[in-house]
Amino acid sequence: MLDIQAMVLFNRRVARDTYLMGLEVPEIIQTSRPGQFIMLGVGDGQDPLLRRPFSICGRHGEDGLLVLYRVVGRGTALLSRAPAGRRLDCLGPLGNGFRLPRPGTILLAVGGGMGAAPLLFLLQSLAQHQTAELMLGFRTSTEILPSSELPHLPEGAAIATDDGSRGRHGLVTQLLAERLQRHTAPDEDFVICACGPRPMLQEVAALANDRRIPCQVSLEAHMACGVGACQGCAVAADPGMGRPYLHVCREGPVFEAEAVLWGSL
Ligand code: FES
Repeated sequence: MLDIQAMVLFNRRVARDTYLMGLEVPEIIQTSRPGQFIMLGVGDGQDPLLRRPFSICGRHGEDGLLVLYRVVGRGTALLSRAPAGRRLDCLGPLGNGFRLPRPGTILLAVGGGMGAAPLLFLLQSLAQHQTAELMLGFRTSTEILPSSELPHLPEGAAIATDDGSRGRHGLVTQLLAERLQRHTAPDEDFVICACGPRPMLQEVAALANDRRIPCQVSLEAHMACGVGACQGCAVAADPGMGRPYLHVCREGPVFEAEAVLWGSL
């Protein structure tokens, strides 16, 4: 883990309220794994004081790191105005990422909204012969990530929108359920990796559990410190874990789905 300055390479709007930022930070991207995150200073100096956590969305060239974010408040609004050349405080890589699927398995990557970000890094990191299918859910068509802006977003991704304005009308979990229903070949061996809102992850975990499919989930949480010091990111653990809480920043953000006590979230 390093605490260094990253230089903004570009920072552009790619969908409604959604931005893609490239950061030159070779020391961090070269040791990052899919599912890990950074804590990024979003303004000049100490304003605002706290850094914000962002999943690493992928590599950009040799030395660049991609961050995909939605403007949801003052901090991310400030970030959206950071010009190329600005230097931002960057702490990372943090947390535990996805275990890469073993050869021969079919990765079903399921993302809701900004939950696409770590999954895109995961897909970018797969070996060329690895089979993967991406399913993404958005509230409406204007929030859909365009593959023209994200070179590592596969064009064949299955899309669902809450309002039916594009793709499947409904939730991304319905896409997953339908995909699993179509699965009849006994030699298909799946692994599921998912990131998104908690209700979505709970449904993904339930579908995976019904089918006895290994499932890793990347949890989103409020994070003040990102390094296990503030307790602000604790979520209840399944009783089988032998302890009451899991810290999303330090032990996650990626967990085996059965590690989480879903009913308490
Ligand atoms: Fe502070 Fe996890 S964010 S303990």
